[in-house]
Amino acid sequence: MKTSTDALAVPKTDITLDRNQLRQILQLSHAVNGSMSPAYLVQQMARAMEEIVPCMCCYVWVYDSASGEMWSYRDNVRLQTQADHILSGRAFLEKQQLHLSHPAEDSLLHEEYDRLDGARVGHYLAHPLFDAQGNALGVMQLMNSAIHPFSGSVMDMLGEWALLAGGRLRAVLELHQWQQAFYSFSDVLSETLDTRDYITSGHSRRVTLYAMEVAQQMNLNVGQRRRLQLAALLHDIGKLGIPELILLQKKRPGEDEYEIIRRHAQITRQILSRIQFPDRLREVVDIAAMHHEKLDGSGYPAGRRGDEIPLGAKILAVCDVFDALTSRRPYADRRPLEEVMEILEKETGSAFEPFIVYHFKNMPLSRLIQILEYGHTEHFDGEDLRRLDDHTLNDLARADGIATPVLEEIKQIFNHYYTRAYRG
Ligand SMILES: [Fe+2]
Ligand SMILES: [Fe+2]
Repeated sequence: MKTSTDALAVPKTDITLDRNQLRQILQLSHAVNGSMSPAYLVQQMARAMEEIVPCMCCYVWVYDSASGEMWSYRDNVRLQTQADHILSGRAFLEKQQLHLSHPAEDSLLHEEYDRLDGARVGHYLAHPLFDAQGNALGVMQLMNSAIHPFSGSVMDMLGEWALLAGGRLRAVLELHQWQQAFYSFSDVLSETLDTRDYITSGHSRRVTLYAMEVAQQMNLNVGQRRRLQLAALLHDIGKLGIPELILLQKKRPGEDEYEIIRRHAQITRQILSRIQFPDRLREVVDIAAMHHEKLDGSGYPAGRRGDEIPLGAKILAVCDVFDALTSRRPYADRRPLEEVMEILEKETGSAFEPFIVYHFKNMPLSRLIQILEYGHTEHFDGEDLRRLDDHTLNDLARADGIATPVLEEIKQIFNHYYTRAYRG
C-alpha cells in the first residue's frame, strides 16, 4: 500500500534531471547574488559558468555605450576593446547567440581573449545578456577545445542563465553608476570649496590624501576608508557659512575673527546632516563635524573627549593641523619642518591620539612630499623620490638625535622640496 509520502513522489528520472538543473541555476544565482561590484560580478559569473557547463573558459563581457567598447575581467585584470573587434562583440551587436565550431577560421577570433590554456579553441559559444526590459548589456562567452563540443541542452539553457545573469548585472551596474555619481559629486564639491578658499588652496584635497595614507598605514577596512575619504573631502564644507571678508583676508585673522571661523565645524554638521547617507556612510557626518575636537576635551564645537570622538575624526584632526602648519599663506610661509614636528609632538596625547600621530609619521616621505606639493609634482626628480621611499618622518625625528650621513642626506632632499619657491 502506498504511503502519503509515496503518493507525492515524482518518478526518479525526472527528479534527477530537475534537481540537476535547479542546482545549476542555484549555483549561478548564489554566485551572482553576493557580488556588489561589476568587476567582481563578471568574474564570479564566469567562474560559476565554468563549473556549471562545464566549459574550459568563460568570459562575461559588458558593453559600455559611452565608448562603444566591451570590457571584462580575468584574474582581476581588466580587458577592454572595441565591440566590433571581437567575436563576443558580434554576438552583442547582432543580439543573438553565436555558435562556431571552427572559430580559428574567423578573423574576429582574438588571440588574447579567445584563448585556451594548452589547447586550440574548437568550440565557441556566445550569448547576449539582457535585462528584464530586453536591453542587451553584454555577452556570456564560453570556449571549449575541439574534443568538447557544447550539447544542444547547454545552448538551450544558456538563454535561461543569461536572463538570470543579465538581471543581476543590470542591478549591479546601476548601483555602481549611482555610487560613482555620488562620489564624483562629492569630489567636485570638495574641489569647488578648495577653489573658493584660495588662501588655503587645495586644503581638502591634501587632507584627504593624507588621511588615505594613514588609513593604509593603519590597515583600515574598505568601509572605514570610504567614510574617512568622504568626511575628509567635505570636512570644511561649513566654511560656506563664514563671510568671505573674514575667511579670505590676506592677513592672519584676529581672535574675534577666529571665533567666527570656528563656527564652520558646527555648520559642517548642519549641512551634512541633511544628506541622506546610506547606513554604512552615516558616520561621515560625525567624522567631518568633529575634526576640531581634541582628546582632552579642549576642542570645538562640542568639547568631546577621548572615545567620544570617532577614529576617523581623530585621523582628520592630525592631517588637518599638519596641512594647516605646512601650507603657504599670503601672510606666512610654511613653518620649518622642525617646528611642525615639535607642535605635533607637544599636542600628542592632549589634542591628538598618539597611535595616529605615529602612523602619520610613518608614511613614506616620498608620499608625504608629493601631497605637500600637490599640484607641483611635475618638478620632482624620480631618483629623489626613490631615496625618500624608504624613510619616514619618524626617521627624520630620529635624525635630530643620531645624525647618520644617510639620514642627513634624506633630510636635505626632503627640505629641498619643502622649502623651494612656488612655481606659479
Ligand atoms: Fe576645519
Ligand atoms: Fe580643514
